[in-house]
Amino acid sequence: MARATDIAPVVLPAVPQGVAHRHDLAAVFGNNHPVELELGVGKGRFLIQSAEQNPGVNFLGVEWAGRYFRLVAERAARRGLANFRIVRDDAAHLVRDNLADACIAVLHIYFPDPWPKARHHKRRLIQPPFARQCARVLQPGGLVRLATDHEDYAQQMEQVFLADPDFTPTWRAVGADAPQGVTNWEQKFRAQGRTIHKFEFRRVTS
Ligand SMILES: C[S@@+](CC[C@H](N)C(=O)[O-])C[C@H]1O[C@@H](n2cnc3c(N)ncnc32)[C@H](O)[C@@H]1O
Repeated sequence: MARATDIAPVVLPAVPQGVAHRHDLAAVFGNNHPVELELGVGKGRFLIQSAEQNPGVNFLGVEWAGRYFRLVAERAARRGLANFRIVRDDAAHLVRDNLADACIAVLHIYFPDPWPKARHHKRRLIQPPFARQCARVLQPGGLVRLATDHEDYAQQMEQVFLADPDFTPTWRAVGADAPQGVTNWEQKFRAQGRTIHKFEFRRVTS
């Protein structure tokens, strides 16, 4: 019988809601390399590939769905990735409550759930208070990169980050102009011919 993969080396334990704790990411990874964070990793293709290709950068992912969390943790553990950690948690909780100021170099948010019904829009991740928290955890000059196939959510993403005084837009691209990414959902949506919107904003330095 095949042995279950030991995922402990790549798992960052979640902090329960209400417990005051902010991770010391240098202690978590055992070095001071820059940290990139992906919110909602899905099957983890982007984050695992990035960790394999950039050993001098640390990659942290957060995923709420237990099935995906386990799948990604097993894949990363099998590859022996020392610069990879994943936490099973709510992305908004992790960013707001468990990350220190200015600890993230790049924040990746690809195809977050669009919650298309108007009465569910309040569940969307990208909201003004969330952008404030992104500004807090990003290093000055740090980047937030976003992608979505949902036109209305794309407008909301752009408006939220444009309205935040700590961010300045660096580029945006739509459809054929949007550079090809590697996430599982991007590949699926491109194959379906859907229009992809991509944005990058920089955390201002003062
Ligand atoms: C549409 S998928 C995109 C996955 C991946 N970013 C990609 O592009 O392939 C959205 C992912 O976000 C996860 N997710 C949704 N809400 C979340 C939350 N509040 N916190 C963490 N992950 C969440 C879902 O379980 C799912 O894996």
